[in-house]
Amino acid sequence: MNKLTVTASRSYDVIIERGGLDRIGEYLADLTASCRAAVISDSHVFPLYGRQVEDSLRRAGFAPFSFVFEAGEASKNLTVYGQILEFLAARHMSRSDVILALGGGVTGDLAGFVAATYLRGIRYVQLPTSLLAAVDSSVGGKAGIDLPEGKNLAGAFHQPMLVLCDPDTLKTLPETVIRDGSAEVIKYGMLGSEAFFRELEETPITEQAEHVISVCVGMKRDLVAADEQDTGERRKLNLGHTFGHALEKCSHFRISHGAAVSVGMVLISQAAASRGMLSQHDLNRLIRLLKQYGLPTETVFPAASLREAALSDKKISDGRLHLIVPEAIGKCVIVPVSGDELVSWLPDEN
Ligand SMILES: NC(=O)c1ccc[n+]([C@@H]2O[C@H](COP(=O)([O-])OP(=O)(O)OC[C@H]3O[C@@H](n4cnc5c(N)ncnc54)[C@H](O)[C@@H]3O)[C@@H](O)[C@H]2O)c1
Repeated sequence: MNKLTVTASRSYDVIIERGGLDRIGEYLADLTASCRAAVISDSHVFPLYGRQVEDSLRRAGFAPFSFVFEAGEASKNLTVYGQILEFLAARHMSRSDVILALGGGVTGDLAGFVAATYLRGIRYVQLPTSLLAAVDSSVGGKAGIDLPEGKNLAGAFHQPMLVLCDPDTLKTLPETVIRDGSAEVIKYGMLGSEAFFRELEETPITEQAEHVISVCVGMKRDLVAADEQDTGERRKLNLGHTFGHALEKCSHFRISHGAAVSVGMVLISQAAASRGMLSQHDLNRLIRLLKQYGLPTETVFPAASLREAALSDKKISDGRLHLIVPEAIGKCVIVPVSGDELVSWLPDEN
């Protein structure tokens, strides 16, 4: 078992423990008196782990009930969000009750946004079951839903009261979902730790899941503590995401997020190498590691399309994008660029 504490507008523990889902009731009982507990989960995860969580909650004196939605990003929308709010209201959920988000990043974002807005905010627990949710989305308090106009366009910062990650749940993840999460794990090595990057080269992530999650959560904890509202250092978590999001858009979301981030990291690293900011050796190491985890490293989309898509990114502030640029494995800098300057960071020809 590994426990880390996140210090933000509210402090909370992140517990990483194999078999931990069986003990969620006990952990919650340490934090609150018995109350109703609404488990929000998707149609893949609930049949696997829903009963385990409900039973643990019941044993500890809580009164659980569940809302299960259709798995997939398409459910992270206003309709499902509204359905969950109405579901809670119909059951007279009060501010002394608790929501538990059991699932991947979609569940965490959706349930987190419900928790941020229902009764102007109630407490919630993150129970991440995908690699991406374990290493990234369950920590840091960003919650939200997609609009027809774009991803994550409505949201809030709302920190959970507890994050409990049971690495045993990763065993039931489909291979493609593991691969997507691996891109985010490699991102942590690239942006903050050469030693961790080397561990990923030497040992597969799935063979050291508990350790990998602990390292990534530790790095995210430090970035969130320094910059909860994402206006400074926390932006480094966007490494590979500016061009990654652009790729997702260009492909009409046929390219998965992890694959897009993988290519996005390569594109920005190639730009850094061509400017002499990153060594060719480190660029080659990044490409080799991404390939080792079955991730793509090239794109067929032309620079003009990528630029246009990147410029519609919601993270543009004052007409400037913040590129996260690697200077070495384990070290990145934030480079603000205008729309015109962005062209010089994209590949010349495709
Ligand atoms: N809030 C943040 O800070 C943040 C950060 C990064 C990403 N995100 C969001 O996270 C989402 C992507 O997360 P994701 O990749 O976890 O997607 P997801 O929640 O859709 O999970 C991927 C798939 O894996 C399934 N699944 C999850 N856990 C499982 C398990 N243990 N066994 C079997 N199947 C399982 C899900 O049902 C789904 O089909 C996106 O919406 C993205 O915007 C949020």
